[in-house]
Amino acid sequence: MSTELKGRTALVTGATSGIGQGVAQALAAAGALVIVHGRDADRGGRVVDGITRAGGAAAFLAADLAGGAGTVTRLAARAAELAGGPIDILVNNAAYLVGQTSTTDTTEAMIDAALAVSVKAPILLTAALVPAMAERGGGVVINMGSINGTSGMAKTALYGTTKSAIHGLTRALAAEYGPAGIRVNAIAPGPTLTEITQAHRDFLDPLIATLPSRAYSTPAQIGATAVFLASDDAANIHGAVIPVDGGFTAV
Ligand SMILES: NC(=O)c1ccc[n+]([C@@H]2O[C@H](COP(=O)([O-])OP(=O)(O)OC[C@H]3O[C@@H](n4cnc5c(N)ncnc54)[C@H](OP(=O)(O)O)[C@@H]3O)[C@@H](O)[C@H]2O)c1
Repeated sequence: MSTELKGRTALVTGATSGIGQGVAQALAAAGALVIVHGRDADRGGRVVDGITRAGGAAAFLAADLAGGAGTVTRLAARAAELAGGPIDILVNNAAYLVGQTSTTDTTEAMIDAALAVSVKAPILLTAALVPAMAERGGGVVINMGSINGTSGMAKTALYGTTKSAIHGLTRALAAEYGPAGIRVNAIAPGPTLTEITQAHRDFLDPLIATLPSRAYSTPAQIGATAVFLASDDAANIHGAVIPVDGGFTAV
């Protein structure tokens, strides 16, 4: 299998921790020059150092995706500048994450923040980067969905709304930009072991015990899926939402 991404450039949003970090590391290990994005410069620097120590190439860019169109457009321009040319692979991974919250406890501010970071920013960032991809003859967009975009779960209405939007966005973008050579797909992880989920093991462990795999997903597994989707091996995969969820949504 060829997963060689040498000579390609990638922007991974929310790559200072968790799944985004795993995706950035995997794309860099496959040869891509990776722009690691997030807000926390210290953590971003550590991710870049780790990639560099492992023999890869990376740089950090800070931007708060709640900042709207101006911020997102600047991020896209600075990413291309740092990459020394157009971005070939965009991974829309960053999201506004809120723990389990009943709908009656969900505030307007939470709704605005979730829609801004998890839905508006990926649309704007894609719009900012696809013209140059198309001009170059093609590119790849990978959106981070979730089992919550497919299955309903109590106390996750806002999060599930944003992830359903991401799954729908993926299909619509595939229809719009596929003919221009841009492949748009999504990964829908199940519970994945990150710093945040470690703190919720009491709640998650019993759920994991019901999965066909009986196992959490890992950032490295999500990263490997992203490398495959970004590679030419996935040349005829458009608009797919690929679960990496231990079988959660299948049974
Ligand atoms: N972990 C899971 O079990 C799981 C399951 C299914 C789907 N997912 C999805 O996977 C993605 C990553 O989740 P994760 O669990 O890896 O979370 P995480 O460890 O908290 O990472 C979130 C990342 O997003 C960035 N971010 C958050 N808000 C931002 C903002 N306003 N502007 C810019 N960057 C921002 C954070 O960067 P800074 O802290 O540096 O700002 C961080 O790098 C999300 O789309 C999530 O919905 C996760």
